[in-house]
Amino acid sequence: MKPSAPPKTYRVKSFGCQMNVYDGERMAELLGTRGIAPAPEGEEADLVILNTCHIREKAAEKVYSDIGRLVLAGKEAGKKPLIAVAGCVAQAEGEEIMARAPAVSIVVGPQAYHRLPEMLDKAVSGKRATDTDMPAIAKFDALPARRKRGPSAFLTVQEGCDKFCTYCVVPYTRGAEISRPFSHLIAEARKLVEDGAKEIMLLGQNVNAWAGEDDKGRRTGLAGLIHALAKIDGLARIRYTTSHPGDMDDALIAAHGEVDKLMPYLHLPVQSGNDRVLKAMNRQHTAESYLRIIERFRAARPDIAIAGDFIVGFPGETEAEFADTLSIVDEVRYAACFSFKYSPRPGTPAATMDGQIAPEVMIDRLQRLQDRLAAHQYAFNQASIGKTCTVLVERTGRDPGQWLGKSPWLQSVWFEAPAAIGDLVEVTLAAAGPNSLKGLVRETLPA
Ligand code: SAH
Ligand code: SF4
Ligand code: F3S
Repeated sequence: MKPSAPPKTYRVKSFGCQMNVYDGERMAELLGTRGIAPAPEGEEADLVILNTCHIREKAAEKVYSDIGRLVLAGKEAGKKPLIAVAGCVAQAEGEEIMARAPAVSIVVGPQAYHRLPEMLDKAVSGKRATDTDMPAIAKFDALPARRKRGPSAFLTVQEGCDKFCTYCVVPYTRGAEISRPFSHLIAEARKLVEDGAKEIMLLGQNVNAWAGEDDKGRRTGLAGLIHALAKIDGLARIRYTTSHPGDMDDALIAAHGEVDKLMPYLHLPVQSGNDRVLKAMNRQHTAESYLRIIERFRAARPDIAIAGDFIVGFPGETEAEFADTLSIVDEVRYAACFSFKYSPRPGTPAATMDGQIAPEVMIDRLQRLQDRLAAHQYAFNQASIGKTCTVLVERTGRDPGQWLGKSPWLQSVWFEAPAAIGDLVEVTLAAAGPNSLKGLVRETLPA
């Protein structure tokens, strides 16, 4: 490659989960310390980072077509952008990307992006750079301080996964489970709140596997961290995602009854309602043990909204087994869910299992599942009518004078009243649609 001028502007395009969004923000902060600025809207950036996701099919193909598009757009604008591929596709297919896409200068995995500045220097000098090492804690130590974001901020507390569900790439792309130290998390949270965050969403591939030592040197799980975060003045709301049924403990369940700032919302994926399928998925729980956990959360916090993830068409899934998934949906009465067609991922055990399901069967099952989930979501929203709650204002609505934000149950709520982004506004929920609710304002609480 030819040497190029150091980039002045960047753009980070993040795909996939919230942790990728968090990583994208951290990479942007890192570039900021190098004096590289976000590219103005509508302008081609000197450096583009594709922060990729590998969870489902066509991830890699999408990366190659994005690279092609960037090269073309650069040509039209009379420049040659530096292209970096980050995230989980970079981790899984870094070498192939370097071989297949000569336009790419940098391949950097999710646990190595703190080294981006050095890699950038190398790329500017005309050499290509790859780093897919996995020293996760080193990454966090090497990153600059957080910068101001919106009223709701992400905070990665735990990374990686040791569960090895047979369909999933995450244990390979993110590595083993690690927990960031308590003191670092409290410091990062304080900084976010000082910069205006009202809500913090704690992130982890298995967030409830977080463990550490508190400021008094006592071993504690996620509940201990939540109790400590709740003491930060100015922080109004705490959330966490995503939990694994195998890592639940009594203290976390109890925290939902004890900590006002902890929002009544639990994202606890079950994937399937059938025990044979759950075993083949290596989920390490049954439908029954999952339901018992939900029951305990509801006992601690009766109004808690339950969310989940589902996969239809796992290899060998019969119609009767799929029917068990529909049954568990009816039993839990989910407030919100994500549901996917099974996608064989290279290198995972399920990809080579017998009984791969035909695409048309998957499409049909997904449709039936999504219809059922939508009905429950609508019912949950309808049942919220008449409740009074706070809304954290995140943006302006479609019409002038309208504001949009989230209820404690993570529903989108819009209202019309004087307000500003970051306000916590008390509303009474007056009408509900499938995906949002209308609030009527009684008073604006001081921010
Ligand atoms: N760690 C979290 C989420 C991991 S990925 C957990 O265990 O719950 C997010 C979701 O993507 C999963 O919950 C699952 O529903 C879905 N998913 C993961 N691998 C998949 C695959 N190969 N095909 C289809 N969906 C998949
Ligand atoms: Fe993937 Fe299972 Fe780990 Fe979740 S728990 S990240 S689905 S392997
Ligand atoms: Fe995707 Fe990696 Fe997240 S595969 S879902 S970006 S952990």
